[in-house]
Amino acid sequence: VRHWKLHKTVVLVGMMGAGKTAVGKALAARLEVPFLDSDAEIEQAANMSIAEIFARDGESFFRDRETQVINRLLENRRGILSTGGGAFLSERNRALISEKGVSVWLDAELPLLWNRVKHKDTRPLLRTDKPHATLKALYEARVPVYATADLSVKARSDYAIETMAGKVVETL
Ligand code: S3P
Repeated sequence: VRHWKLHKTVVLVGMMGAGKTAVGKALAARLEVPFLDSDAEIEQAANMSIAEIFARDGESFFRDRETQVINRLLENRRGILSTGGGAFLSERNRALISEKGVSVWLDAELPLLWNRVKHKDTRPLLRTDKPHATLKALYEARVPVYATADLSVKARSDYAIETMAGKVVETL
């Protein structure tokens, strides 16, 4: 780990199911820095789940909250910040992240993502008739944007969380 990078918040980006939260926690423990999670902060502040926020207030309300929370959490200047899968799609969020943090894309392929999300009911964007097709469309639209992150790490189904955390540390 190059020393200067720990003076910036490491921001994990990538699709839902890529492991941003699990790897972020492991990474924060390993580097002994705070773990921050934008989805969890939004849920706590609203006292509602992400799915409830989407249902009650809509996606654009959630996106506004997400930008506010990311901006606030980046003030910490140190730590690991796991973001929701859509966060890096916003140009404003990307600007905030590149100004104050270093972005790391957890690059997982579609079959792995699908395996991880298919049994869960927590992601409002996948509550459609054809969740696989929806995930695929999101994946295809988003990959070119995630690819603009400062760094990237390939995720694989046979990598344990700790292995992924180690790979992130190696790239920093
Ligand atoms: C979203 C991903 C979710 C959450 C919300 C929207 C997205 O986070 O922020 O459901 O747009 O991909 P995870 O990536 O942690 O599932």
